Amino acid sequence: MQKHEIYYCPPVFRPPSEAHSLLIQLTEGCTYKCDFCIPYLKKDFIVRDTDEVIKDLDVAKRIYGPGVKRIFFLDGNAMVTPTEKLLDVTRYAYETFPKLERVSVYAHSKDILKKSEKQLKNLSEAGLKLAYLGFESGYNELLKMVNKQVTKENHIEASKKLMKANITLSATFINGLGGGNNPELSEKHAIESAELINKICPDDDRIWYVAFLTLMIPPGTVIFKKRSKDLFQEMNTTEILEELKIFIQNIDFHNKNANCIFRSNHASNYLPIKGILDKEKESILSTIKYGLTHSEILRSEFYRGL
Ligand SMILES: C[S@@+](CC[C@H](N)C(=O)[O-])C[C@H]1O[C@@H](n2cnc3c(N)ncnc32)[C@H](O)[C@@H]1O
Ligand code: SF4
Repeated sequence: MQKHEIYYCPPVFRPPSEAHSLLIQLTEGCTYKCDFCIPYLKKDFIVRDTDEVIKDLDVAKRIYGPGVKRIFFLDGNAMVTPTEKLLDVTRYAYETFPKLERVSVYAHSKDILKKSEKQLKNLSEAGLKLAYLGFESGYNELLKMVNKQVTKENHIEASKKLMKANITLSATFINGLGGGNNPELSEKHAIESAELINKICPDDDRIWYVAFLTLMIPPGTVIFKKRSKDLFQEMNTTEILEELKIFIQNIDFHNKNANCIFRSNHASNYLPIKGILDKEKESILSTIKYGLTHSEILRSEFYRGL
């Protein structure tokens, strides 16, 4: 009997920019356990059978027709899928949808480091065009504090490897990750994160993305439990914007033609910001300074979300 519905294991995890993409459940959950995050809390990690994923692609074609242009393979770190399997489902996706322009996934930096240059190149050639990496911070102490299981050096190596394979990088950081009342930690988070971005800046003018989300505290997470025990305190909006200001001030690319699209306009952010780094650094700084002195323009707590 033919399947009539695409399988999903809710809640699914995808970037906001994939809202209009066809979502295909290649994996469920995540193999890591970061203190602020929920995918691994909600479901046990699995990589689904290739046949099941292929059936879902066929069902999607019957539902949406052959014109699908973007596919995002769910969930929290689908890049961890064994390369041959990822290649098979990516190739099948392009055969099924002749107008497909890109396949993308979430990836932990270590998922990239575990693949060889050749494997990444094969994935890129098969059509895996974009990977969303959660850097969260460039400050090793803070990465350790939130159990990210990665270092700044790992992020640098993974980004360079990805770019070399011609897979577009989209990296996210978390504003306020270290908590309030700790200006020294906040400053280190900002400066080391900027330095990380400076180090991965490519020599050419390819497009790459850097975004800042602002820390949310979802129930059930380790950070939520820490806050309940007064072991963690959230930053206020001034601290958040000061941290972002220090990050931007410390951006200094060796390549002044770089095309790094910077965004801090996610639903978790208090102040929506967009610009190109480091060309538009001054206008980004002006927006932040305006937000620091005009609290009435900031998104209210009620409207924030992940
Ligand atoms: C679903 S995760 C997938 C990223 C990928 N697994 C990785 O770790 O590299 C997407 C991103 O959302 C952001 N995020 C997750 N939980 C968050 C929270 N509680 N507050 C703010 N941002 C959060 C982090 O930047 C995270 O990397
Ligand atoms: S941030 Fe990424 S690696 Fe960490 S738990 Fe969430 S999805 Fe997994």
